Amino acid sequence: MSAVINKTNSEIRDLYQIIYMSRITSTGLSSASTLNDIAKIAIKNNKADNVTGILCYGNGYFFQCVEGSEQALTNLKNRILTDDRHKDIQMLDFSAITKRRFTGWSLRSIILERWMINDPKAKALMPFKPYSWSSDERHQFLDILHGYYEEQENTGDIDTQPIKYNALGLTLSKIVGEHQAFFLIQTVLGVLIVLALLWFMLSDKF
Ligand SMILES: Cc1cc2nc3c(=O)[nH]c(=O)nc-3n(C[C@H](O)[C@H](O)[C@H](O)COP(=O)(O)O)c2cc1C
Repeated sequence: MSAVINKTNSEIRDLYQIIYMSRITSTGLSSASTLNDIAKIAIKNNKADNVTGILCYGNGYFFQCVEGSEQALTNLKNRILTDDRHKDIQMLDFSAITKRRFTGWSLRSIILERWMINDPKAKALMPFKPYSWSSDERHQFLDILHGYYEEQENTGDIDTQPIKYNALGLTLSKIVGEHQAFFLIQTVLGVLIVLALLWFMLSDKF
């Protein structure tokens, strides 16, 4: 019992969070499974290092909040800073905290375009442009993420891998998703025009 209390006390003394945002690079976009690759290694490492957190991707931007010991987060920060899948990394916070926000998540990855659609509060912060947010808006966003965590906590769904899309696909799906009908009509019209041209060209020959 006292060992548990000691562990909890030592964690309270050595508990930090890192919050940062970054932009995906062409290297990140070019890989077929950037988000899955990150999630896979991150869940493994974070579990081993007792790090918890959330990684959001949307509109070409990453926004991450991770929690853990100062040493674990310093090591993680050094790895993240040299990762060529993202750039323009802006550290928003590296400070001591008293409580984890995402206790059960080694790293939950969220694709904002899909997730925000169902959350009116999050929708109000769309389009996702974290670099232009005020500090209040960033806190608001973190509160929304924490609310999402609390809501999901009951499902027991701890470390879901992101859905398999490549990062470019994700960015495109945002555009396509918003204008699905338009794209569908364009495609059908395009196919009809090509068929009509072929018909004209071939009908001359017979
Ligand atoms: C946006 C982003 C977030 C990442 N988050 C984590 C993370 O939470 N934990 C982690 O271990 N690696 C994370 N990574 C991957 C690391 O940068 C690094 O590739 C990984 O830790 C393996 O490092 P290693 O090759 O030096 O072992 C992230 C990478 C990116 C681009």
